[in-house]
Amino acid sequence: MSLLQWKPEYSVGIESMDDEHREMIELINLVYQELGDSPDNDQIDSFLGDIFSSISMHFALEERIMRNTNYYEYPAHKADHEKLLDEIRDLMDSFADDPETGARVLQENLSDWFSEHFSSFDARLHRKIGQH
Ligand SMILES: [Fe+2]
Ligand SMILES: [Fe+2]
Repeated sequence: MSLLQWKPEYSVGIESMDDEHREMIELINLVYQELGDSPDNDQIDSFLGDIFSSISMHFALEERIMRNTNYYEYPAHKADHEKLLDEIRDLMDSFADDPETGARVLQENLSDWFSEHFSSFDARLHRKIGQH
């Protein structure tokens, strides 16, 4: 079963952003599935690394757009990005210590974070960009 499911309300109205959000959801689901059936720790480690780099790139792009447009919500939006990157780092640490704890942390935190961030910060940002 997938941990996260793409929902129409996550759409921010910009195809390339929606694609990147979908890709992040897919990567997270891959890790989650791998944790479910006889986990291969090296594989999970490399998935988590992929997630971290694809999310960092996506955030950097959004932050560049926000800086270039003097976007009003830049500090709070960036702070939420940093919170998620910290969570992923913690997840990688707890996974290294104990894969079972890692699986629980993944399940408990990331899913909420994504649905909240997409439907609040990202939705507001992309609505604003769409007006330019
Ligand atoms: Fe964002
Ligand atoms: Fe985003």
